[in-house]
Amino acid sequence: MGGQMDKNIVLIGFMGSGKTTIGRSLSQALGMAFIDMDHEIEKQEDKTIKDIFQLDGEKYFRNLETEFLKIRMDDKNIILSTGGGVILKEENRELLSRIGTIVLLHAEIEHIVNNIRDDEARKNRPLLHEEDYIGKIKRLYNEREERYLNSADLIVKTSGRDVVDIAEEIISNFELA
Ligand code: S3P
Repeated sequence: MGGQMDKNIVLIGFMGSGKTTIGRSLSQALGMAFIDMDHEIEKQEDKTIKDIFQLDGEKYFRNLETEFLKIRMDDKNIILSTGGGVILKEENRELLSRIGTIVLLHAEIEHIVNNIRDDEARKNRPLLHEEDYIGKIKRLYNEREERYLNSADLIVKTSGRDVVDIAEEIISNFELA
């Protein structure tokens, strides 16, 4: 696998599409720093995502996402893994494209449901704290899919593939570009 990229890599995709796992793998392979947006926001607020949603509300969280992106504009040599809802705001989409090349990890709904099925995976995902969380996943996925597709510079299918394979596809696309 090749060396460093000229540009940052921004990973977008629905919850459970593999952004964190693939981001870490890319970071190792390319020697680029891995930054997980949700994790950084949690550190900054000293609260879990679940508590931010519960105590401050979703709108507050969405503003934190935008503020976070604004301060990362000058970052270099990073793989940025975003929260699944980051593409909801046009402003965020613009900020992301200024930060780096946007790669959509595109997973099928069945794959996402499978990844998020266990309680642990849903514990810190407040949007899925519903009895019918599968119905909620389907609704959000359908609402958002077009926005994911329209925001991406590169679309990579992730369902049923292993992490190294996906990371290699991303890297080879950058090397050709
Ligand atoms: C969200 C996705 C989560 C997190 C928050 C909201 C969303 O991130 O930002 O729970 O709106 O899809 P992951 O995509 O890392 O689960």
